[in-house]
Amino acid sequence: MSEKRTTTPARNLVLIGFMGCGKTTLGREIASSLGFEFVDTDGLVVERAGRRIPDIFAKEGESGFREFESDVLRSIAGRENMVVATGGGIILRPENRALLSGMGLVVWLDASEDAIFDRISRNEDRPLLATENPRETIARLLAERRPLYEETASLAINTDHLDGGEIIHGIIESAQEFFSRSST
Ligand code: S3P
Repeated sequence: MSEKRTTTPARNLVLIGFMGCGKTTLGREIASSLGFEFVDTDGLVVERAGRRIPDIFAKEGESGFREFESDVLRSIAGRENMVVATGGGIILRPENRALLSGMGLVVWLDASEDAIFDRISRNEDRPLLATENPRETIARLLAERRPLYEETASLAINTDHLDGGEIIHGIIESAQEFFSRSST
């Protein structure tokens, strides 16, 4: 783990990172340990659109999905005491990156291309990977996105060789330290 920024204004924990890195599963557990509300931007998009993500992509394309995603992010950006799990592509828009960075402690859950491929290759809920060669798609998207995750996050964790409990423990310790520093 490495940390670069020391203060941000708000009291939230935000999880960013590629599909399949555990943002939603780990985020839910971390929220319950911290006594924070758990918020999932993909879940809010589905609620707002009244449709599943693959249907949004099919009818309105990726750009339609990104509009919903940015709307949802703007709608929660002023709130506090949340653990926010985000969709893997939320960092693509500069305005989203600025909002995320100001929301609190932003943690990037990273993993190797191999680990990501193993975790998500059989999942059909991710329209961006419904390509002829999902492995190549993962590699391309990761190369495009890693600099954006790095730019947005205060803390990066490579999850390849850690179990869920270790990741949760590390993030909770960092969050508690971050919140105690930012409240003084
Ligand atoms: C996407 C990731 C998905 C979801 C959508 C697009 C992406 O979320 O937002 O399918 O662009 O990486 P998860 O990262 O939770 O799978």
